[in-house]
Amino acid sequence: MSIPARLLRKPEDASGAPAQPTAEHGPHRYIRSFALRRGHVTNAQRRAYEQIFPRFAIRYAVAPLDLAAAFGRAAPTVLEIGFGMGETTASIAHAHPEINFLCVEVFAAGIGALARRVDELQLANIRIVQHDAVEVVRDMLASDSLAGVHVFFPDPWPKARHHKRRLIAQPFVGRLASRIAPGGYLHCATDWQHYAEQMLDVLAHEPQLASLHAGYAPAPRNPLCERPTTKFHARGERLGHGVWDLVFVRRSA
Ligand SMILES: C[S@@+](CC[C@H](N)C(=O)[O-])C[C@H]1O[C@@H](n2cnc3c(N)ncnc32)[C@H](O)[C@@H]1O
Repeated sequence: MSIPARLLRKPEDASGAPAQPTAEHGPHRYIRSFALRRGHVTNAQRRAYEQIFPRFAIRYAVAPLDLAAAFGRAAPTVLEIGFGMGETTASIAHAHPEINFLCVEVFAAGIGALARRVDELQLANIRIVQHDAVEVVRDMLASDSLAGVHVFFPDPWPKARHHKRRLIAQPFVGRLASRIAPGGYLHCATDWQHYAEQMLDVLAHEPQLASLHAGYAPAPRNPLCERPTTKFHARGERLGHGVWDLVFVRRSA
């Protein structure tokens, strides 16, 4: 089954209400890190998207998000960008009920899949925003508000002409780093060597960040949690690509 067009066109609002205007609506549109495509969605994902997701959904808005109000408690908050089908997200959130996870994804099938897991595992510490994370970071998150950020296996955009679509690049990384509280972390992982090298270069040159390790992280671990092995990790190892983790911390001002 194809995802209904209304769900693809207005990812920020599952209810179908009009999207909020953003500062990007103008001549300075940037290149998206995802491609708009019709994805396959199973019946179970569609049901979860329609019936469960609204319980955990946070609507995109050009307004600062009150994290404590959104989660119903004040707790360290980790932002996850591009959770795909949400296996890693649900597993980490289950292991760390003391942390709030703000999870951003654009595609309905993945959101349905994560919503099912949240429901099955009775997770109270996940909230989901269906929108471009670049705009969520820019418009909704205050400086120094995050305990950590997870960007696991972002779309690698392997062709040279598509490298401009890669998420871990400036100016986005500078803005993202500013949202992390001093001492908080940014944990990225990829199974594409060229992207790993780009990540290392970009993160090492971002003045707000310092590497926790000399180069790549020796284990898929950050100061708060461990990244479990999931589909992309296993694929990288199977194809002999290798898997690279990078863990940087926000410097004190
Ligand atoms: C290759 S998948 C990885 C999924 C997951 N992190 C994992 O490790 O299994 C990358 C995901 O990032 C999402 N994505 C890409 N750019 C995004 C953006 N700007 N905002 C939100 N999600 C994005 C895509 O929709 C896709 O589901």
